[in-house]
Parts: sequence; C-alpha cells; structure tokens
Amino acid sequence: MKAFTIFGGTGDLTFRKLLPALYNAGESGGPGADYRILIIGRRDYTDEGYRELAREWVRKYARLPYSEEAFGRFAGRIGYYRMDFSDPAAYAGLEEYYEAEGVDGHIFYLAVAPRFFGVIADGLAAVRGARRGKVILEKPFGESLAAAGELNRRLEAFFDPENIYRIDHYLGKEMVRNIQTIRFTNPIFTNLWDARFIESVQISALEEEGVGTRGGYYDTSGALKDMVQNHLFQILSIVAMERPAQFSGPDMHAEQLKVLRALRLPEAGEARDALLLGQYAGYRAEKAVAPDSSTETYAALRLFIDNDRWRGAPFYIRTGKKLGRREMQVAVVFRRPSSDVAHDVLLIKIQPTEGVYLQFNIKRPGDTDEVTQAKMDFCQSCSLENRINTPEAYERLLSACIRGERSWFSQWDQIETSWRFVERLRELGRAEGLPVLNYEPGSMGPPEADALLARFGHGWFH
Ligand code: BG6
Repeated sequence: MKAFTIFGGTGDLTFRKLLPALYNAGESGGPGADYRILIIGRRDYTDEGYRELAREWVRKYARLPYSEEAFGRFAGRIGYYRMDFSDPAAYAGLEEYYEAEGVDGHIFYLAVAPRFFGVIADGLAAVRGARRGKVILEKPFGESLAAAGELNRRLEAFFDPENIYRIDHYLGKEMVRNIQTIRFTNPIFTNLWDARFIESVQISALEEEGVGTRGGYYDTSGALKDMVQNHLFQILSIVAMERPAQFSGPDMHAEQLKVLRALRLPEAGEARDALLLGQYAGYRAEKAVAPDSSTETYAALRLFIDNDRWRGAPFYIRTGKKLGRREMQVAVVFRRPSSDVAHDVLLIKIQPTEGVYLQFNIKRPGDTDEVTQAKMDFCQSCSLENRINTPEAYERLLSACIRGERSWFSQWDQIETSWRFVERLRELGRAEGLPVLNYEPGSMGPPEADALLARFGHGWFH
C-alpha cells in the first residue's frame, strides 16, 4: 500500500488546503484515491480525534459537496501519528508504524518551516523505501538564498532530484495554466506576442487581506520574496517564454529559465525606475511584526527582458496586501496605431473571477465616426458547472505529483535565478536609499506606483 504522509499535519495549510484537496481528489477518483493518508504532528490526537477535526475543514473548504458517506470513505484512509519530527531518534518508531500498516511506497509532504527539511530528510533514512519516495516542499525553501542552496543539496543527497517537487500553488491555478493555451493556440495572439506589437505586460496580484496571523513569517519575507520571486515570476516566465518543444517536462522549464536569466538588472542609479516598495499603515502593529519593521507589504516592479522578442517592452508587476480589492490578472497592452485611440488589451483574469477580457476599438454606433471600445468579457467561473469541475490548485498539483508530472512545479534553478535577481534588485534599491512608502489600507497602494508608470507614458490597466 502507498502512503501520503504530511509532516506538519496540524497546521493551517493542511487544514485549509491539503485535506480538502485530498478529499476532492479521492472523490473524483483521481490518482492516489487509494493512498493511505498519514498525518504527523506533535499534538496528541487519536485517529478518531483527528478525523473529527478534519471533518470540519473538509466541510468548509472542499470543492466537492460534503456528504457523510464520502467523508467516511476519506476519513477511513486517515491515520494520525504523533511524533517530534525534529528528533532523529523518533524515526525508528515511524518505520515500525509503516511496517505495521503495510506501507511500501511513499509521498512525503513537508508542510513545515524550512529549518526542519534537513532533519526530516536525515530522519527518513530510517524508513525503508523512503529514499525512493517523492517529497513535496512548501515555500519558503529556506530563510536565505544561501540557506536554501544548502538545504537543496541536503535534500538532493537523500531523494532523487527527479522526486523532489517544489510547490508553487499559482502553477495549479486554472487561468495560469490557461496562459499558454491562449497564447499559443490563437494566431490572433501568437503572431502579435512580442515587443513590436505589445507595449507592456502588467501582472497584478492585489490582495485585500493583511498579514493576519502570519506576521512572524511575513516580516522576514516581505512582498518581494513572498509573491514576486515565486508566483509572479512564474507567471512572467510563462507569458514571456519561447514556445517549448513540448509543454510538459524539461522543455518548458528550460524556456522559462531562459526568460528569468534574461531579466535585466537596472544600471546603478536607476533602481528607482525598476522598484517601488510600500507598507500599509498599521502593519507594524500586527501580531509578531517588529514595531520598527521596514518590510514591504507592497511592491511594484518595472522589468525588462533582454532578448529579441521583448527588448523595449516593460513587464510591470505589482502586488500588495490590504488593498482596496482582491484581483489577480495579466494585462497585455498592445501598441496603438495613434495616440487618439485606446489600446487594445487582452486581460487574463486569474482570480477571483476566472476569465478573459478583450478590449478593442470600434466605431461608436450612429451617425458618427467617433471611436469607442468593444469590451468583451468572458467569465469562465460564472458557470456553476465550470466551478465545480475545476480542481483547486493544490488538488491539481497533488494529483500531478502522484502521476509524476513535473512541469507544474518549480525547479531549483528557476527558484535560485529568481531569488538572486530579486535580492540584487533589493540591494540596488537599498544602495540608492529607496524608501518604503506608506499607504492606506483599502487604497490601491502608494500613489507613487501610478507615477512610476506615468513617468514612462504608461498606466496600470484597470
Ligand atoms: C502565498 C503567500 O504563497 O500566496 C501569501 O505566502 C498570499 O502571502 C498567497 O496571500 C496568495 O495566494 P492566493 O491563492 O490566495 O492568491
């Protein structure tokens, strides 16, 4: 029998995302529906006690409807094993547990802080067959780039690198997966997809929520590390990459990596044209946040990709917490034939609404030659059927891992390249004394973010 083991099984991620995802995957008969689910935590639960806890989270967060019968099937697969996973001596007991359960194949999910990755990998040496198993890692992959590199070496020394799956849950989102289809299967977009026809690409990830209970983690991370270098750089590289020979596997990673490597660092003295940071008023009073914190909760970037396709077309990125609305989208703003007409815009809407919006010029109806805009708005998630049939990001990624489908996971070299770029950019900003600007909760971030684009004759697309 195979087991899906979660280290950190009593944390928020497990409750909100992993358990509902495993429930959905099981009920839709996807791969892994027969896996045993083993939860590892330090708290004292019986199997029954934990299952009762799981019931409420599944009821609240699962995509598929809750029923006693379905939950019974799911709960029957769950076991709880109490252990201090930071204690190397505790793994002999875990091996005995697997032995007694007849487990002979493994997927381990490390939903724990990165400082535990190494000790868990070392401990698993005591578990037969663990070395041939798969491991799924949650970000952050380390506290610093150097620490993450070291951790990576340690993990690769135990697991086969092909069996290490680094989650970036944005890669499991329906409309993120749709970008390549929209781009490459439609000549009306494929043939215009470069700086000759595209004036700018704008990637926005606006959030209404603040840092909530995650202040301790967030304060050491900030928007650049938390959102930009992972989720938003993944999106950027899919939007910008050359067509891979195949969309699955290493070809796609290789093309994405080329884009990341071609990101241009600003010249000394020009960081203010490339980076803008903000912090919402009240952030310093959040739980577990330093009272004099200068961590950014907002970031806007103006980036260039140094290759023939993109030379001259900026990629704008912005993300922030406690903003006036929750909205994630990619806007492709086409060049216009003259300044007296509006831009054509293709908008790929990632969330909360999933869909595609296309804006282009037409004649205003009536006896006039005035130009106005046709605004075609396709809402994919407005149909209940689509909503129910669309797996959530974690569900999709867990199934992909079980199938061994690696293209929708981050590769270490992508992470390292993005991380290094973001660190250097931040360094340049520091050297130039770039401020962390204050902004009001409920606003659209620091007003200077509008001014950044305006300096170059552009504006954020709303
Ligand atoms: C996480 C970040 O990776 O993504 C959070 O750590 C952020 O700070 C979250 O809120 C956003 O994810 P989603 O799926 O809600 O867009």
